[in-house]
Amino acid sequence: MDRPKVVVYTVASVDGRVAIAPNKTMFDGDNRFDSFITKPEIDVQEHLFTIHQPTVIMEGSGSFVPENKEPGPLPRSDIEESKLYRDFLPKDVVNNEDRAGWCVAVDGRGRMRNWAKTFDDLPGWHILILVGYHTPVGYLAYLQREKIPYLIAGEGQVDLNAVFVKLKSKLGVECILSTAGGKLNGALLRAGIIDEVNIVFHPGLVGGTNTPILYQSSDLNDDEKPTRLELVSVHADGGGGVWLRYFVKQKHTNL
Ligand SMILES: NC(=O)c1ccc[n+]([C@@H]2O[C@H](COP(=O)([O-])OP(=O)(O)OC[C@H]3O[C@@H](n4cnc5c(N)ncnc54)[C@H](OP(=O)(O)O)[C@@H]3O)[C@@H](O)[C@H]2O)c1
Repeated sequence: MDRPKVVVYTVASVDGRVAIAPNKTMFDGDNRFDSFITKPEIDVQEHLFTIHQPTVIMEGSGSFVPENKEPGPLPRSDIEESKLYRDFLPKDVVNNEDRAGWCVAVDGRGRMRNWAKTFDDLPGWHILILVGYHTPVGYLAYLQREKIPYLIAGEGQVDLNAVFVKLKSKLGVECILSTAGGKLNGALLRAGIIDEVNIVFHPGLVGGTNTPILYQSSDLNDDEKPTRLELVSVHADGGGGVWLRYFVKQKHTNL
């Protein structure tokens, strides 16, 4: 395979909601979603790290910036455009022997400001952004000024397949763990690049019509089949959470 293995891990309510309401982020202090998350007997993320040893953990921009928020302005760039619209992998960051992995975010619209570059709870992990040829010039200049590495592929939206091929060929990534919300995982589903699905259902119902859901994506065309899964394991814990682990058996295909 010329791209890394892609493993998805999501926490959901029993009705498949991955957040409490639209336009929420992981950092806005609204902890109502957590109110029904039971303390698991197994730390699923740690377990997946042991099984797969991913060197990328990936999130979408929706985890950090609400969809309804207008991003703040960026200073004008004094870097030549031709030097911005290409992969940016500063040697001192990429070749750092203490680096354990990459915290990757898809941010093709360049909406995030003030990325943390390293993380106290993940020593040795460094931020890396996935962008496209549509990404605003000022945002790429900001990433370069801050020495935040990025990989570029796609026009209009980040081409996830192409950029994953680069993660493997340029950075040696063999496994990506996506802990994103519903839309990014939905885009991975439609791109046919998910190898393993993990969902932990917790005992709560959220409801809603615009609340983020699992695998939110375009509808199937009349000539497309659903993706088929093969059950690997089921773990029900005493608190009422259920972890389902599946391999992707057959990607969605035309009839
Ligand atoms: N329960 C959980 O396990 C869990 C995990 C993570 C987050 N969350 C919550 O879920 C919510 C966010 O979820 P969400 O579904 O709104 O957002 P999301 O999953 O972050 O989806 C938005 C991201 O997907 C990218 N994207 C969408 N369609 C694409 C396509 N066709 N090709 C390439 N990239 C594509 C967007 O790229 P651009 O930015 O380039 O447009 C953006 O980065 C937040 O409330 C967050 O707290 C829950």
